[in-house]
Amino acid sequence: MSEVMIQADGLVKIYKTKQTEVLALQGLDLTVEQGELTALIGNSGSGKSTFLNMIGGLDRPSAGSLVVGGKNLFTMTERELVVYKRDTVGFVWQNNGRNLLPYLTVLENIMLPMHLSNVKKKRTKALELLEMVGLSSKKNSRMNMLSGGEQQRVAIAIALANSPKLLLADEPTGSVDPKTANYIFDVFTELNRQGQTILIVTHDVALSKKVKRVVAIRDGKISSERILKEKYADRLKEVSIDWRHEDTQEEYVIMDKAGRVQIPREIIGSLELKDNKVKLELQDGKVIISRPEE
Ligand SMILES: Nc1ncnc2c1ncn2[C@@H]1O[C@H](COP(=O)(O)OP(=O)(O)OP(=O)(O)O)[C@@H](O)[C@H]1O
Ligand SMILES: [Mg+2]
Repeated sequence: MSEVMIQADGLVKIYKTKQTEVLALQGLDLTVEQGELTALIGNSGSGKSTFLNMIGGLDRPSAGSLVVGGKNLFTMTERELVVYKRDTVGFVWQNNGRNLLPYLTVLENIMLPMHLSNVKKKRTKALELLEMVGLSSKKNSRMNMLSGGEQQRVAIAIALANSPKLLLADEPTGSVDPKTANYIFDVFTELNRQGQTILIVTHDVALSKKVKRVVAIRDGKISSERILKEKYADRLKEVSIDWRHEDTQEEYVIMDKAGRVQIPREIIGSLELKDNKVKLELQDGKVIISRPEE
């Protein structure tokens, strides 16, 4: 049985500064089921981090509705929000300096967030997490002795320390080399295979092609979705595939709650419209949009 993990409806976020107002999210609708691995892509400034921060409880939405793991992000009190951030979501950033302590060992860093909640057998759990990200051999190294990619893997382990229902990652491979990026990405894929729900923002086209569901955000709204083709689903680990040059996914446009669909500009162009009226017909279960006859 599938359960909804993220339900965003008409989500709006307005950033107010002294001079201006920025509409960062403009009525975003998205449903993510439990157990999904979803990638979020989009141009710089399209609202990806804003959306992730709303889900992570780091910032409050302005309007619409947002429910994550059954918790309503609008009606939550500050106190409930603290518990939510500790137990429901785990966060990985591009720049992991924010959640790592340089003079503690890898193991101590992973055990640290567990002291805030009542995880039993902290050390066993921390070792398990380290194994999962492939860093068991570095457990006693100090954080500042690790490479960027290794630090990022520790950051993933830390984000998972309290067994969050949802793992959020904002460009987790943004500052590592392609080989490390691939490795880190495989860690996410493996976590997902074990049942972890993950939402990941990425700029990396090659990596996004290995994901079952890629959601594109444009001007603070979901504009299209790409779904992995069946024949690639079982081949995600094949290194022989050059993912950059494969068309692994099928693209869909998104219909909003009012039934509006945005038709890509190239397709509109081929209709050669005289004005803004189109003919809409239902034929054999298909909706046909055409230029009105003269
Ligand atoms: N704290 C803030 N105050 C004011 N404006 C903000 C703030 N944070 C983000 N914005 C604006 O909101 C819009 C969306 O920003 P956001 O960071 O979500 O984009 P993004 O898709 O994550 O971009 P990038 O790929 O560059 O990380 C941008 O126009 C940005 O300038
Ligand atoms: Mg961003």
